[in-house]
Amino acid sequence: MTQTERSVHVVIVEKFPRRTMTQNGTRGKRSVLKRRLVVCLKIILAITVFSLYVVVLLRESLQAIEENKSRWTSRVPKTSHHRNTGKHLIHHAWKNSTNHPAPPRPSKPTTLNPIYEYSEEVNAAAERDFAERKNHLWDMCIRRGMVGVYPPNAWEFFISPGHGLAWCNVFKAASSSWMYYFNILGGYNLAYLQRTKTSPLELARQRFPRPTLPELADALANSISFLIVREPFERLLSAYRNKIEGFRNKYYKLLAEQIVKKYRKTPKMKARPTFKEFLTYLIHHYKSGNRFDEHWSPIYSFCTPCSINYTLIAKVETFQRDTEYIIRQAGLETLLLNKLPNKKVRAISNRSTSDTRHLIPKYFGQIDAQTLDQIIEIYEPDFEFFGYNFTKYYELIEQN
Ligand SMILES: *[C@@H]1O[C@H](CO)[C@@H](O)[C@H](O)[C@H]1NC(C)=O
Ligand SMILES: *[C@@H]1O[C@H](CO)[C@@H](O)[C@H](O)[C@H]1NC(C)=O
Ligand SMILES: *[C@@H]1O[C@H](CO)[C@@H](O)[C@H](O)[C@H]1NC(C)=O
Ligand SMILES: *[C@@H]1O[C@H](CO)[C@@H](O)[C@H](O)[C@H]1NC(C)=O
Ligand SMILES: *[C@@H]1O[C@H](CO)[C@@H](O)[C@H](O)[C@H]1NC(C)=O
Repeated sequence: MTQTERSVHVVIVEKFPRRTMTQNGTRGKRSVLKRRLVVCLKIILAITVFSLYVVVLLRESLQAIEENKSRWTSRVPKTSHHRNTGKHLIHHAWKNSTNHPAPPRPSKPTTLNPIYEYSEEVNAAAERDFAERKNHLWDMCIRRGMVGVYPPNAWEFFISPGHGLAWCNVFKAASSSWMYYFNILGGYNLAYLQRTKTSPLELARQRFPRPTLPELADALANSISFLIVREPFERLLSAYRNKIEGFRNKYYKLLAEQIVKKYRKTPKMKARPTFKEFLTYLIHHYKSGNRFDEHWSPIYSFCTPCSINYTLIAKVETFQRDTEYIIRQAGLETLLLNKLPNKKVRAISNRSTSDTRHLIPKYFGQIDAQTLDQIIEIYEPDFEFFGYNFTKYYELIEQN
């Protein structure tokens, strides 16, 4: 035995004292070879794993850089949950990060987007309307001495600081569509949103909790703030039909029963309040100074437009255009544009035309002038502030 062989042998002997003591020299040599082979294999395996790891790492960082590049070139702001950024995007650089959500300056769009048509005329018309609505509103607020009279209901806002949006949710004014948009902004995926049975409002509140007044003030200074208004009596009729006439939950069922009991001379079980009975209830409720349900609360006290300088006042009557404008203004095209389910899109485009509007003559034909006077008294500021006209309702009742 050479010196080295002996030392190896010694090592083996030391390592496996009991077994090797009883074995002869040739068997010892074979096990040394086997051991070396195993060590070699282990080294090869380690090298392979390591190089695979390096390749994966390299690819990930390359991808990150690529994404970073496209994000910065397309200028999509601060959204983390979309990965396919910048493919079909124009951002008009309207959004200015100053603290004044000033009426947007018209800027020149340079390309047509392959996904959706952008029309400069439509856009210009929207801008004119937005400016006009705002001027009109503040003229009326001043004329009525209502500036700052109602403290803001921070509670009712949905604020997404990361997307620069603050929305006062007017119920029965396309609110489910914007609830859907906020749920997308909240990071829910589209398939889940269409499948889930959880109410959209509940989902949205999980991601956008009710803000405090200071949080609202901060958001208003740094975001696009908006509300969506609707012709007051179309909104009221829609609320009545949805919540009272066709009640679906216990709370409104109970309310409906109470209204019948109180305002019908011979109340029958299971009868639902007529529109006139509902209005009579509202008038009494208003006179006794009680708070209105959010579904028929006048907007002037619910979203306090004379106490908050909203960036944009959108309308159900021009919902599609106004909404697209807000989305572009916020730079959220990739996330939100064309993301409403078809069902919702149909409901919206039909909402102001067929459904409620066509039913207005039928329902208002049931009420008398005195009831109309009183109900107009409640909603008159909403008519005035947002440029609607109630004259036609007198014609509807007089025909009867
Ligand atoms: C992405 O871009 C930003 C700003 O240009 C830079 O600060 C950041 O390091 C970049 N990240 C990567 C992964 O390249
Ligand atoms: C942003 O605001 C600043 C100062 O108010 C103004 O000079 C700049 O032109 C604005 N940028 C855009 C894109 O409107
Ligand atoms: C609302 O804000 C805009 C932009 O900052 C400003 O020009 C306008 O005077 C404000 N209006 C009121 C009534 O405060
Ligand atoms: C409106 O609803 C009717 C069905 O009630 C449907 O046939 C029509 O296509 C809808 N209109 C739009 C613009 O979606
Ligand atoms: C409402 O419309 C009628 C005509 O239909 C008009 O005489 C009246 O001045 C309008 N009211 C307002 C407040 O614009």
